[in-house]
Amino acid sequence: MRIPMIVGNWKMNKTADSVESFVNGIRGNLPNAMQLETAICAPALFLEQMVDQARDMPLEVGAENCYFEDNGPFTGETSPYALSKAGVDFVILGHSERRKIFRETDEMINLKVQAVFRNHMRPIICCDETMGQRESNDAVHWVVAQVIEALKGVDEEQARTAIIAYEPSWAIGVGTPASPDQIEEGCYLIRQTVADVYDDEIADEVRVLYGGSVKPANINTIMQKQDVDGVLVGNASLQPESFLELISNDP
Ligand code: G3P
Repeated sequence: MRIPMIVGNWKMNKTADSVESFVNGIRGNLPNAMQLETAICAPALFLEQMVDQARDMPLEVGAENCYFEDNGPFTGETSPYALSKAGVDFVILGHSERRKIFRETDEMINLKVQAVFRNHMRPIICCDETMGQRESNDAVHWVVAQVIEALKGVDEEQARTAIIAYEPSWAIGVGTPASPDQIEEGCYLIRQTVADVYDDEIADEVRVLYGGSVKPANINTIMQKQDVDGVLVGNASLQPESFLELISNDP
């Protein structure tokens, strides 16, 4: 039985004050860890504050990106080693915004996946799908290729702790998610690709999330799809009220 996951991705939002008010707004209202796994992925600037404030709460903390070297002359980058030492649990990698705006390649994302595992954290590997790929019925190829590329060099013990998100970029930030059938299709495809690369047991252990306009009004329908283990939420994770609504709506 996979425990459902609800992960917030704050992207480039928040200030130190609003981080404080968010944490105070959810403190005491999170379900215990056995029912649901909740996490917030925050900008690097606030991670130490989040780790410290989440210490006495069933809330895990993730980063939104990292470099693939542990240290060295990489001005402006964030070390996976330093993230791990700071108590960070997850790192989002390969988000469509990183692929599109910052030109991150499958090869670079794979190096980062290996670095996150090397530092004993769990990657949240995002698989993008553009509207063009969907309309040209090419989405399957792209999703499968991204999963295979991201998991190169990842051994079985690491793979079973992986988290992979189906995040069609055409559904991000628009208010309307992909349809339940499209979501199931994408998540099933990811799980089947993991089964092909490793085996059915590992495919059953990985967590497959959906991301793209998840809101309190639609999370229930999305979470009922067979291959959806959880959601990766942008806008609706920014305010404590809506984040708590997402959690209380979970079946
Ligand atoms: O990583 C999740 C994010 O891209 C989804 O954003 O605002 O559509 O929930 P949003």
